[in-house]
Amino acid sequence: MPGAAARDSLPCVTTSLTGRSVLVAGATGGLGLPIARLLAERGALLTLTARSPERLDVVARELAAPAVPLDLRAPTAAERAVEAAVAAHGRLDGVVHAAGVVAFGPAGEVDDATLEELFALNVLAPIRLVRAAQPHLATSAHEGGEPFVVNISAVVAEQPTAGMAAYTASKAALTAFDAAAGRELRRARIRLLDARPPHTETGLATRPVAGTAPTLPRGLDPSAVAARIVAAVENGERDLPAGAFG
Ligand SMILES: NC(=O)c1ccc[n+]([C@@H]2O[C@H](COP(=O)([O-])OP(=O)(O)OC[C@H]3O[C@@H](n4cnc5c(N)ncnc54)[C@H](OP(=O)(O)O)[C@@H]3O)[C@@H](O)[C@H]2O)c1
Repeated sequence: MPGAAARDSLPCVTTSLTGRSVLVAGATGGLGLPIARLLAERGALLTLTARSPERLDVVARELAAPAVPLDLRAPTAAERAVEAAVAAHGRLDGVVHAAGVVAFGPAGEVDDATLEELFALNVLAPIRLVRAAQPHLATSAHEGGEPFVVNISAVVAEQPTAGMAAYTASKAALTAFDAAAGRELRRARIRLLDARPPHTETGLATRPVAGTAPTLPRGLDPSAVAARIVAAVENGERDLPAGAFG
Protein backbone atom coordinates (compact mmCIF):
# COMPACT_ATOMS: atom_id res chain seq x y z
CA MET A 1 0.00 0.00 0.00
CA PRO A 2 1.42 3.45 -0.87
CA GLY A 3 1.90 5.95 1.97
CA ALA A 4 -0.22 9.13 2.20
CA ALA A 5 2.42 11.26 0.46
CA ALA A 6 2.73 8.80 -2.43
CA ARG A 7 -1.04 8.50 -2.74
CA ASP A 8 -1.38 12.31 -2.87
CA SER A 9 1.07 12.51 -5.74
CA LEU A 10 -0.70 9.92 -7.86
CA PRO A 11 -2.03 11.57 -11.06
CA CYS A 12 -5.60 10.31 -10.99
CA VAL A 13 -8.91 11.74 -12.12
CA THR A 14 -11.33 11.39 -9.23
CA THR A 15 -14.30 13.39 -10.50
CA SER A 16 -15.91 12.66 -13.84
CA LEU A 17 -17.67 15.66 -15.34
CA THR A 18 -19.71 13.63 -17.81
CA GLY A 19 -23.41 14.31 -17.34
CA ARG A 20 -22.81 16.67 -14.41
CA SER A 21 -25.00 19.78 -14.27
CA VAL A 22 -22.67 22.77 -13.83
CA LEU A 23 -23.59 26.45 -13.52
CA VAL A 24 -20.92 28.81 -14.88
CA ALA A 25 -21.20 32.46 -13.79
CA GLY A 26 -19.14 34.85 -15.88
CA ALA A 27 -19.33 32.45 -18.80
CA THR A 28 -18.52 35.17 -21.35
CA GLY A 29 -15.31 36.16 -19.59
CA GLY A 30 -11.68 35.61 -20.43
CA LEU A 31 -11.51 32.80 -17.86
CA GLY A 32 -15.17 31.78 -17.68
CA LEU A 33 -15.44 31.01 -21.40
CA PRO A 34 -12.42 28.68 -21.68
CA ILE A 35 -13.52 26.97 -18.45
CA ALA A 36 -17.04 26.51 -19.88
CA ARG A 37 -15.59 25.12 -23.12
CA LEU A 38 -13.44 22.60 -21.25
CA LEU A 39 -16.36 21.52 -19.06
CA ALA A 40 -18.51 21.06 -22.18
CA GLU A 41 -15.76 19.02 -23.87
CA ARG A 42 -15.79 16.72 -20.84
CA GLY A 43 -19.53 16.17 -21.16
CA ALA A 44 -20.83 18.50 -18.45
CA LEU A 45 -24.36 19.83 -18.87
CA LEU A 46 -23.90 23.57 -18.58
CA THR A 47 -26.07 26.49 -17.57
CA LEU A 48 -24.45 29.82 -18.37
CA THR A 49 -24.84 33.25 -16.86
CA ALA A 50 -23.20 36.65 -17.33
CA ARG A 51 -24.40 40.22 -17.53
CA SER A 52 -24.52 41.15 -21.22
CA PRO A 53 -27.37 39.29 -22.99
CA GLU A 54 -25.73 39.76 -26.40
CA ARG A 55 -22.37 38.30 -25.41
CA LEU A 56 -24.06 35.53 -23.47
CA ASP A 57 -26.21 34.59 -26.44
CA VAL A 58 -23.12 34.08 -28.61
CA VAL A 59 -21.57 31.74 -26.03
CA ALA A 60 -24.85 29.91 -25.42
CA ARG A 61 -25.13 29.18 -29.15
CA GLU A 62 -21.54 27.99 -29.37
CA LEU A 63 -21.93 25.62 -26.43
CA ALA A 64 -25.59 24.76 -27.10
CA ALA A 65 -26.32 25.45 -23.44
CA PRO A 66 -29.17 27.27 -21.69
CA ALA A 67 -28.27 30.75 -20.56
CA VAL A 68 -29.75 33.35 -18.23
CA PRO A 69 -28.43 36.91 -18.39
CA LEU A 70 -28.24 38.38 -14.88
CA ASP A 71 -26.56 41.22 -13.07
CA LEU A 72 -25.04 39.21 -10.24
CA ARG A 73 -24.83 42.31 -8.06
CA ALA A 74 -28.58 42.01 -7.50
CA PRO A 75 -29.40 40.19 -4.24
CA THR A 76 -31.78 37.73 -5.95
CA ALA A 77 -29.61 36.99 -8.99
CA ALA A 78 -27.71 34.03 -7.52
CA GLU A 79 -30.93 32.28 -6.61
CA ARG A 80 -32.30 32.85 -10.11
CA ALA A 81 -29.14 31.45 -11.68
CA VAL A 82 -29.33 28.31 -9.54
CA GLU A 83 -33.04 27.90 -10.31
CA ALA A 84 -32.29 28.16 -14.03
CA ALA A 85 -29.68 25.38 -13.80
CA VAL A 86 -31.99 23.09 -11.84
CA ALA A 87 -34.87 23.81 -14.24
CA ALA A 88 -32.65 23.06 -17.25
CA HIS A 89 -31.06 19.83 -16.05
CA GLY A 90 -33.12 18.66 -13.08
CA ARG A 91 -30.16 18.81 -10.73
CA LEU A 92 -27.03 20.78 -9.87
CA ASP A 93 -23.62 19.19 -9.33
CA GLY A 94 -21.24 22.12 -9.69
CA VAL A 95 -20.91 25.90 -9.65
CA VAL A 96 -18.06 27.93 -11.12
CA HIS A 97 -17.98 31.61 -10.17
CA ALA A 98 -15.80 33.27 -12.81
CA ALA A 99 -17.53 36.66 -12.83
CA GLY A 100 -15.60 39.55 -11.39
CA VAL A 101 -14.35 43.10 -11.74
CA VAL A 102 -11.12 44.90 -10.91
CA ALA A 103 -10.34 48.48 -9.86
CA PHE A 104 -7.10 50.41 -9.56
CA GLY A 105 -6.13 53.54 -7.66
CA PRO A 106 -5.04 54.75 -4.20
CA ALA A 107 -7.07 53.52 -1.23
CA GLY A 108 -7.68 57.09 -0.15
CA GLU A 109 -9.41 57.94 -3.41
CA VAL A 110 -11.72 54.97 -3.96
CA ASP A 111 -15.34 56.05 -4.36
CA ASP A 112 -18.44 54.34 -2.95
CA ALA A 113 -19.73 53.08 -6.30
CA THR A 114 -16.42 51.29 -6.92
CA LEU A 115 -16.36 49.78 -3.44
CA GLU A 116 -19.93 48.60 -3.81
CA GLU A 117 -19.35 47.04 -7.24
CA LEU A 118 -16.17 45.25 -6.14
CA PHE A 119 -17.78 43.76 -3.07
CA ALA A 120 -21.19 43.03 -4.63
CA LEU A 121 -19.72 41.02 -7.50
CA ASN A 122 -16.47 39.65 -6.09
CA VAL A 123 -17.72 38.77 -2.59
CA LEU A 124 -21.48 38.87 -2.08
CA ALA A 125 -22.38 37.16 -5.37
CA PRO A 126 -20.24 34.04 -4.77
CA ILE A 127 -21.44 33.82 -1.15
CA ARG A 128 -25.05 34.01 -2.34
CA LEU A 129 -24.33 31.40 -5.05
CA VAL A 130 -23.00 28.99 -2.44
CA ARG A 131 -26.05 29.63 -0.25
CA ALA A 132 -28.50 29.10 -3.12
CA ALA A 133 -26.69 26.08 -4.53
CA GLN A 134 -25.99 24.24 -1.27
CA PRO A 135 -29.28 22.30 -0.95
CA HIS A 136 -28.98 21.07 -4.55
CA LEU A 137 -25.30 20.22 -4.13
CA ALA A 138 -26.18 18.31 -0.95
CA THR A 139 -28.70 16.27 -2.95
CA SER A 140 -26.01 15.65 -5.55
CA ALA A 141 -23.63 14.43 -2.82
CA HIS A 142 -26.31 12.14 -1.48
CA GLU A 143 -26.66 10.63 -4.96
CA GLY A 144 -22.89 10.23 -5.41
CA GLY A 145 -22.52 13.26 -7.69
CA GLU A 146 -19.23 14.52 -6.15
CA PRO A 147 -20.46 18.13 -6.11
CA PHE A 148 -18.12 21.10 -6.21
CA VAL A 149 -17.91 24.88 -6.15
CA VAL A 150 -15.05 26.80 -7.79
CA ASN A 151 -14.55 30.39 -6.70
CA ILE A 152 -11.97 32.38 -8.65
CA SER A 153 -10.20 34.64 -6.20
CA ALA A 154 -6.78 36.07 -7.17
CA VAL A 155 -3.10 36.17 -6.31
CA VAL A 156 -3.68 39.48 -4.48
CA ALA A 157 -5.43 37.52 -1.72
CA GLU A 158 -1.97 36.09 -0.94
CA GLN A 159 0.09 39.12 -1.96
CA PRO A 160 -1.78 42.33 -1.00
CA THR A 161 -0.96 44.86 -3.69
CA ALA A 162 -0.58 48.64 -3.33
CA GLY A 163 -2.69 50.53 -5.85
CA MET A 164 -5.27 47.74 -5.75
CA ALA A 165 -6.23 47.82 -2.07
CA ALA A 166 -10.00 47.61 -2.51
CA TYR A 167 -9.74 44.81 -5.12
CA THR A 168 -7.21 43.06 -2.85
CA ALA A 169 -9.67 43.33 0.06
CA SER A 170 -12.50 41.86 -2.02
CA LYS A 171 -10.39 38.87 -3.06
CA ALA A 172 -9.02 38.32 0.46
CA ALA A 173 -12.61 38.34 1.72
CA LEU A 174 -13.61 35.72 -0.85
CA THR A 175 -10.63 33.51 -0.04
CA ALA A 176 -11.40 33.76 3.69
CA PHE A 177 -15.03 32.84 3.02
CA ASP A 178 -13.90 29.88 0.93
CA ALA A 179 -11.64 28.60 3.69
CA ALA A 180 -14.38 28.77 6.32
CA ALA A 181 -17.32 27.68 4.18
CA GLY A 182 -15.17 24.97 2.61
CA ARG A 183 -14.84 23.33 6.02
CA GLU A 184 -18.61 23.41 6.51
CA LEU A 185 -19.32 22.07 3.04
CA ARG A 186 -16.77 19.30 3.40
CA ARG A 187 -18.98 17.78 6.08
CA ALA A 188 -21.77 17.64 3.49
CA ARG A 189 -19.32 16.09 0.96
CA ILE A 190 -19.36 19.25 -1.18
CA ARG A 191 -15.92 20.40 -2.33
CA LEU A 192 -15.17 24.12 -2.45
CA LEU A 193 -12.10 25.04 -4.50
CA ASP A 194 -10.53 28.48 -4.05
CA ALA A 195 -8.39 29.38 -7.10
CA ARG A 196 -5.98 32.34 -6.90
CA PRO A 197 -4.51 32.83 -10.36
CA PRO A 198 -1.77 35.36 -11.05
CA HIS A 199 -2.27 38.10 -13.66
CA THR A 200 -3.71 36.52 -16.82
CA GLU A 201 -4.11 38.00 -20.31
CA THR A 202 -7.90 38.11 -20.40
CA GLY A 203 -8.12 41.88 -20.87
CA LEU A 204 -9.62 42.32 -17.37
CA ALA A 205 -6.97 44.93 -16.46
CA THR A 206 -7.96 47.00 -19.52
CA ARG A 207 -11.58 47.39 -18.35
CA PRO A 208 -11.40 48.30 -14.66
CA VAL A 209 -14.45 49.78 -12.96
CA ALA A 210 -12.14 52.56 -11.69
CA GLY A 211 -8.58 53.75 -12.20
CA THR A 212 -5.95 52.67 -14.68
CA ALA A 213 -3.78 49.59 -14.52
CA PRO A 214 -0.07 50.12 -13.95
CA THR A 215 2.27 48.62 -16.51
CA LEU A 216 1.99 44.92 -15.81
CA PRO A 217 4.36 42.15 -16.82
CA ARG A 218 2.96 39.76 -19.42
CA GLY A 219 0.30 37.61 -17.77
CA LEU A 220 -0.51 33.93 -18.06
CA ASP A 221 -2.32 32.35 -20.99
CA PRO A 222 -6.06 32.18 -20.14
CA SER A 223 -6.35 28.71 -21.72
CA ALA A 224 -3.61 27.36 -19.45
CA VAL A 225 -5.22 28.91 -16.36
CA ALA A 226 -8.62 27.49 -17.32
CA ALA A 227 -7.10 24.05 -17.96
CA ARG A 228 -5.40 24.08 -14.54
CA ILE A 229 -8.68 24.96 -12.83
CA VAL A 230 -10.65 22.24 -14.63
CA ALA A 231 -7.88 19.72 -13.89
CA ALA A 232 -8.19 20.68 -10.22
CA VAL A 233 -11.92 19.98 -10.34
CA GLU A 234 -11.26 16.57 -11.86
CA ASN A 235 -8.39 15.78 -9.48
CA GLY A 236 -10.33 16.50 -6.31
CA GLU A 237 -8.22 19.52 -5.30
CA ARG A 238 -9.53 22.06 -2.77
CA ASP A 239 -7.00 24.87 -3.06
CA LEU A 240 -5.19 26.38 -6.04
CA PRO A 241 -2.70 28.96 -4.76
CA ALA A 242 -1.01 31.32 -7.22
CA GLY A 243 2.06 29.07 -7.25
CA ALA A 244 -0.01 26.18 -8.63
CA PHE A 245 -0.35 27.99 -11.96
CA GLY A 246 3.38 27.73 -12.73
N1 LIG B 1 -7.49 38.18 -15.56
C1 LIG B 1 -6.71 38.17 -14.50
O1 LIG B 1 -5.56 38.64 -14.51
C2 LIG B 1 -7.21 37.54 -13.23
C3 LIG B 1 -6.25 37.10 -12.28
C4 LIG B 1 -6.73 36.57 -11.09
C5 LIG B 1 -8.07 36.45 -10.85
N2 LIG B 1 -8.95 36.88 -11.79
C6 LIG B 1 -10.37 36.81 -11.47
O2 LIG B 1 -11.00 35.93 -12.36
C7 LIG B 1 -12.37 36.32 -12.54
C8 LIG B 1 -12.63 36.41 -14.03
O3 LIG B 1 -11.78 37.41 -14.57
P1 LIG B 1 -11.58 37.56 -16.15
O4 LIG B 1 -10.17 37.95 -16.33
O5 LIG B 1 -12.14 36.38 -16.85
O6 LIG B 1 -12.48 38.86 -16.41
P2 LIG B 1 -13.37 39.22 -17.69
O7 LIG B 1 -12.78 38.66 -18.92
O8 LIG B 1 -13.59 40.69 -17.63
O9 LIG B 1 -14.75 38.47 -17.42
C9 LIG B 1 -15.61 38.91 -16.40
C10 LIG B 1 -16.91 38.15 -16.46
O10 LIG B 1 -17.73 38.67 -15.40
C11 LIG B 1 -18.99 39.03 -15.94
N3 LIG B 1 -19.57 40.15 -15.20
C12 LIG B 1 -19.03 41.38 -14.96
N4 LIG B 1 -19.88 42.12 -14.23
C13 LIG B 1 -20.97 41.33 -14.00
C14 LIG B 1 -22.19 41.52 -13.31
N5 LIG B 1 -22.47 42.68 -12.67
N6 LIG B 1 -23.08 40.50 -13.28
C15 LIG B 1 -22.82 39.33 -13.91
N7 LIG B 1 -21.68 39.09 -14.59
C16 LIG B 1 -20.78 40.09 -14.63
C17 LIG B 1 -18.69 39.44 -17.36
O11 LIG B 1 -19.91 39.38 -18.09
P3 LIG B 1 -20.26 40.51 -19.19
O12 LIG B 1 -19.27 40.27 -20.28
O13 LIG B 1 -21.65 40.21 -19.58
O14 LIG B 1 -20.09 41.83 -18.48
C18 LIG B 1 -17.69 38.35 -17.76
O15 LIG B 1 -18.36 37.18 -18.10
C19 LIG B 1 -12.50 37.65 -11.79
O16 LIG B 1 -13.06 37.42 -10.52
C20 LIG B 1 -11.08 38.12 -11.62
O17 LIG B 1 -10.92 38.94 -10.49
C21 LIG B 1 -8.56 37.39 -12.97
